Amino acid sequence: MEDGIEDNTQFAKQDYWESRYKAEASTNPTETFEWVKGWSFYSQAITPLLNSTDKILHLGCGNSRFSIDMLQSGFPHHTNLDYSPAVIENMRNVFREHEETVEWVVGDIFELGKAVNGRQFDVVIDKGTLDAFLTGFPDDDPWDPSEEVWDLVRKYMAQVHDAVKPGGLFLHITWAQPHFRKRFCEVTGMDVSVKKVGEEWEYFVYVGRKKAE
Ligand SMILES: C[S@@+](CC[C@H](N)C(=O)[O-])C[C@H]1O[C@@H](n2cnc3c(N)ncnc32)[C@H](O)[C@@H]1O
Repeated sequence: MEDGIEDNTQFAKQDYWESRYKAEASTNPTETFEWVKGWSFYSQAITPLLNSTDKILHLGCGNSRFSIDMLQSGFPHHTNLDYSPAVIENMRNVFREHEETVEWVVGDIFELGKAVNGRQFDVVIDKGTLDAFLTGFPDDDPWDPSEEVWDLVRKYMAQVHDAVKPGGLFLHITWAQPHFRKRFCEVTGMDVSVKKVGEEWEYFVYVGRKKAE
């Protein structure tokens, strides 16, 4: 997932992220980092899908400034969630001036309802987070995922599905190509379309729409 790191499976472990973010926050607390690129790269593709009143949940926000950049583009309401207490505390401090509309929550995506008190969101965004879980299966064949991987994907997407309002959106931003990733996003029955972004290096925005009730 990251060049120059041999054991990618660490990206699937909470203690890896917690110690990485602790170290980063102590050396340079205001530094932010974008996996699979930042808001300016995707804004043209995503902006037409959104309303300024949308309540947006970011799954595995890390120290990305995606929500802050979105706010500056006219989408002010964000809940940022990560299971690393260190990164959440640091980001909450760094971006305190936006606390009226941007919140930072410690929680596990696999217990999402508990973490967000059963709230639902107009838009749920995963940028690079499912990619991180999947590094936990380095020997899996992406052309033919194992039952273990499907199990994790089903559990993950069930949490996502519950957190999206009826008629709302799930946006999954990743480098993973449609053949491998679209079927994962479709597993709970959302209608999924794909936007390709970039020329030389291609990234994808999977746009899942939950059925209106
Ligand atoms: C690859 S990083 C992506 C960070 C950010 N979304 C970005 O695009 O820069 C994955 C993030 O997901 C978080 N994460 C992984 N598994 C999680 C889980 N089960 N619950 C909450 N956060 C999780 C990690 O702590 C890490 O910050």
